[in-house]
Amino acid sequence: MSRTLIVANWKMHLNTSQASLLLHRLHERIKIHRNIEVVLAPSMLVLQPLSMQIDRRKFRLAAQNAYHKDEGAFTGEVSFTMLQDLVHYVIVGHSERRLYFHETDEIVRDKVTAAVRNNITPIICVGETQQERRAGETRQVLHDQVVSALANLTSQDVENVVIAYEPIWAISTFGGELAKPDDVKKALDFIRLQVSSLYGKKVAERIRVLYGGSVDDHIVSGYLAVEGCDGVLVGSASLNYHKFSGIVDAAYRLRHQEDDEDGNK
Ligand code: PGA
Repeated sequence: MSRTLIVANWKMHLNTSQASLLLHRLHERIKIHRNIEVVLAPSMLVLQPLSMQIDRRKFRLAAQNAYHKDEGAFTGEVSFTMLQDLVHYVIVGHSERRLYFHETDEIVRDKVTAAVRNNITPIICVGETQQERRAGETRQVLHDQVVSALANLTSQDVENVVIAYEPIWAISTFGGELAKPDDVKKALDFIRLQVSSLYGKKVAERIRVLYGGSVDDHIVSGYLAVEGCDGVLVGSASLNYHKFSGIVDAAYRLRHQEDDEDGNK
């Protein structure tokens, strides 16, 4: 079984000293666990100072975005190439980027391709709007987003990417309606089915699929217990020391339980 992935998306919050303080507190609290991987995605500006402070046995870093060209006259942009030595992951196609910065499926595909080309693992966000959900279009949206995002990759590449199912209506800043774990399971299964039909069953089993949308320390276990859910992408609760460490604790407890059960077999 793969390691449970807990990703903190700090969005456009926390300046360098605030981020450094939160990391300091998390360092003291969070223990190393071989089955859990905790990833922090601070703002672009904060990545470099945080990378000097971070205990790499406990945390990995992610960028929240990058530009798909490796180098050139693109004022204001940062490339995946520039991030190569700093981060393990880059979040790609987050709904806020799709919505506010007009990122289309094609742009997301180019960014996924650039991430893989630069040896960075993309965390590809997919998910339907409330309107699409009500119109019964969830599967179509997920199909289109997944197929397009992976279009330039080989099956070996696909094995290593991460897909985060984030229904837009469940994201705290877009309404924050809580998704039912049963519905999350259906969406995650559907995503894996798409991957399986394109790249084969083995790839679909290996690819990591996360859930994201208003996850906090109280409800995280319900999602982590969903079969096929390899972790969570956390927004607002990841800014709160107590809530975020509570989420990591819940993941520890679940994985310990599983280890104990496996040990007793
Ligand atoms: P939320 O955000 O946890 O605040 O709902 C999740 C996300 O946007 O990735």
